[in-house]
Amino acid sequence: MEVATRHTRWSLLSGGYVADMKRILADLSRNGAILLLLLLTACSDDSDQQLDARTSLADAARQAELQVGVAFGNNASAGRRTLAASEFTSITPENAMKWPSLAAAPGAYDFSDADQLVDFALSNGQRIRGHTLFWHRSNGLPSWVRDELEEASDPAARLRELMVDHTARVVGRYAGRIAQWDVINEPLALVSGAFDPENIFYELLGEEYLDMALLEAHAADPSAELFINETFTEFQAEKFDGLLALAQRLLDRGIPLHGIGLQGHFFLRAPDETILRDQLQRIADMGLLSEITELDIPLPLFSERAEPLEGQAQAYADVFDACLAVDLCTGITTWGLDDANTWLDSFVLSAGNAPNRPLLFDQELNAKPAYDSVVEALLR
Ligand code: G3I
Repeated sequence: MEVATRHTRWSLLSGGYVADMKRILADLSRNGAILLLLLLTACSDDSDQQLDARTSLADAARQAELQVGVAFGNNASAGRRTLAASEFTSITPENAMKWPSLAAAPGAYDFSDADQLVDFALSNGQRIRGHTLFWHRSNGLPSWVRDELEEASDPAARLRELMVDHTARVVGRYAGRIAQWDVINEPLALVSGAFDPENIFYELLGEEYLDMALLEAHAADPSAELFINETFTEFQAEKFDGLLALAQRLLDRGIPLHGIGLQGHFFLRAPDETILRDQLQRIADMGLLSEITELDIPLPLFSERAEPLEGQAQAYADVFDACLAVDLCTGITTWGLDDANTWLDSFVLSAGNAPNRPLLFDQELNAKPAYDSVVEALLR
């Protein structure tokens, strides 16, 4: 019996092939289950390709030489893992590398979750963005750290010690494997260009906490690109200016800062391509890389439109166009894979609009119009 070649499989698929295929499969079944299985596998690969002849997001990303990433966790279903592996070129652990996830108690580091994600990404040939070393908000800081600082006779010295130890353990463990680190997350106030007064790192150590964290991270992995990742800058000129001024002071002091991440949580207002492109260009003009690190654009923003999904698709394309226009904008990561799992559905300011449906894949893992518009933007 002749085993189907690549060419014959394609010609089978190009005509009235369904009846033929049934007949061939029935013949084959008489010749053994293994051969049947082989052909079924081969045919299903090709029929997928035929039904779905579009260029994948990851292929388009490679052609555009832009990293397109997804925030991801280990508890995802098999279907989601397959999608994350095949459609994206970069992975950001959504929560697994945050300090409380790594160390639930003093000194009790458990890297199993983070290791699994690193193995997953590397086995798929994907880049990894490490997220995040130092974040004072939400659940970014373990409660035991706050407890220790309250009890310490010299809280600043204790915090410095803990930060040095944390950086060495975490960045050192993944040295050479994690391409970019969000060393500092959200240092500034939500609505101004000044430091957040609630930022305990700043409160105890002053601006020097960034110098120290970046220097330690660089020592632990000289090959990693080190980022400050900030939120809600996209529509706040003053906050963006404050962020760039901070970055410039670091560069002036010779601190190893390589890039700025703009998170891109557009739940209050749809992105403005011109503003975003100008911001990314200003970052590039300082010689720094930029990435959109946590992109999501909720559908309710476009509810006034006849076709909300098209409005969302255009908004996604705007963000990609802005980044593609700037050489040093090296990647865009969506903050989640699909609409069934998004932080926006439980966040206080956006939960009222749930389901926010802010991502490229819907709840059933189907690609949305935004997916197509992003692929188009990448291929332009
Ligand atoms: O895994 C536990 C689960 O065992 C427990 O039953 C449940 C009860 O609340 O909590 C689960 O952990 C939650 C975790 O998400 C996983 O779902 C945490 O409580 C919850 O705080 C955590 O929220 C994350 C949040 O950061 C705080 O760390 C979101 O998933 C994550 O999307 C969000 O991401 C942040 C970025 O890191 C920084 N920029 C803003 C962005 C959105 O807040």
